[in-house]
Amino acid sequence: MKRKNGFLGKVWRGKVEGFTKELLISRQEIQKRVRELALQISKDYHGKEPVLIGVLNGVVFFFADLVRYMTIPSKLDFIRAASYGSGTSSSGTIRFSKDVEIDIKGQPVILVEDIVDTGLTLAKIREILEKKEPESVRICVLIDKHERRQAEVPIDYCGFHIQEGFIVGYGLDFNEQYRYLSDIFVLK
Ligand code: IMP
Repeated sequence: MKRKNGFLGKVWRGKVEGFTKELLISRQEIQKRVRELALQISKDYHGKEPVLIGVLNGVVFFFADLVRYMTIPSKLDFIRAASYGSGTSSSGTIRFSKDVEIDIKGQPVILVEDIVDTGLTLAKIREILEKKEPESVRICVLIDKHERRQAEVPIDYCGFHIQEGFIVGYGLDFNEQYRYLSDIFVLK
């Protein structure tokens, strides 16, 4: 789903700790789109039991909603990677502090991420997963942000496209703030 300038819906303004946050995607829009993605995945993987691997921490709400909207069984695991130390600019290095624990050899894998920005995190994780010889690896992201793409990673399932901006809520954070919000906001 692509909207003009990547900015969606009507604007709600609220001032929190020095930042203005504007509503970008409402909880209703998020749920509708996540359900659509889940049903598409269920159709594509009919008769299979894919291993869904979520990238912590930002993916938590998206992952939980996606899995529960799916109509086929799945196995769940997580990997933890961080490319942002603090603030809104990338630190350039990707740290891994948790690997997958399920044996994914010969299994269909769906890597689930909250947002792809430069693409470096997903490219690296994909490389690590491929070494474990899964049957296949597809990528599902809630948000594809095009502004700073450096590594081209094929995105098989995407919730929303945005052009630019730093967004928070529905698991996404700014210095560990705002993750708990049910809607997605752009920080100004
Ligand atoms: P990439 O390696 O640049 O694609 O970065 C991916 C990671 O950066 C995501 O998993 C997020 O943790 C973080 N990130 C990128 N853009 C945003 C944003 O707009 N809000 C919050 N986190 C972001």
